[in-house]
Amino acid sequence: MTVRHFLADDDLTPAEQVEVLDLAVRLKAAPHDARPYAGPQSVAMIFDKPTLRTQVSFGAAIAELGGSPMLVDGKLAGIGVRESVEDVARVLGRQVATIVWRTFAQSDLETMASYAGVPVVNALTDEFHPCQLLADLLTVREHKGDLTGLTVTFVGDAANNMGNSWLLAGASAGMHVRVAGPDGYRPSEQMFARAAAIAARTGGAVSGSEDPEAAVQDADVVVTDTWVSMGMEEEKAAREAVFSSYTVTTDLLARAKDDAIVMHCLPAYRGKEIAAEVIDGPQSVVWDEAENRRHAQKAVMAFLVARSAEQP
Ligand code: NVA
Repeated sequence: MTVRHFLADDDLTPAEQVEVLDLAVRLKAAPHDARPYAGPQSVAMIFDKPTLRTQVSFGAAIAELGGSPMLVDGKLAGIGVRESVEDVARVLGRQVATIVWRTFAQSDLETMASYAGVPVVNALTDEFHPCQLLADLLTVREHKGDLTGLTVTFVGDAANNMGNSWLLAGASAGMHVRVAGPDGYRPSEQMFARAAAIAARTGGAVSGSEDPEAAVQDADVVVTDTWVSMGMEEEKAAREAVFSSYTVTTDLLARAKDDAIVMHCLPAYRGKEIAAEVIDGPQSVVWDEAENRRHAQKAVMAFLVARSAEQP
């Protein structure tokens, strides 16, 4: 059996991304319509970094899909320390229907997927946060309709997991993705090339700049994220200095379209990457985004289980 995984945003083709988003819309309206884990079968959720939204939304999603969420303590398990990722994968794959893992290295997640024999879902790594992007695209659809041709601007630490994921997922959706961050804090050339290759097929576009004001001009969607991602806490003071002119303020937002929406995956630091009056203001859709994690994750898990079962 060829097992399907969701490790990075471009593990879904553009057509599959549409299929998953359509399913998310359907499951949001009818939450118990898909039961791929009926039994209940168990789904392992492993967290090597802090979590609130991801744990709760996956727990609720798995339950609504008829399954039983199983929280595996990453520290107790000591994955890659007490035993190898390969061995952990082989053991988990004999017990659970799907593995959801938040960890540091993308390569560890890939190893897990190679050995598990069941779908593996990226619940955030240093490199990507693809489940957040499905929720974000669902949210943009709800507020703006068709994603194709919309302009989205990511402001801040564009080299982080959210910046990378916006490039790949936005390009897949046919969006025009602009990222604005200081030199050294934008996605790698390889990431741009990977996204540009997708955009060439979908009619999307990707670009990077140092200038948040130019990048936000006439945007439909303005996105930001913390300047200090999980695991970077020691760099906090240095990063706050580097990013100090990248706050999404009301003045910056005024450059976007009048009906632009503002997104943030949370947790948010008011007065740092985003002004309180912006995140708490009328253009903010952050609570819809947080809710949509559940609907989007249900859709992608149901999709992976169904596609894996179809493969010879
Ligand atoms: N870039 C952030 C996202 C949090 C959901 C981090 O990795 O901490």
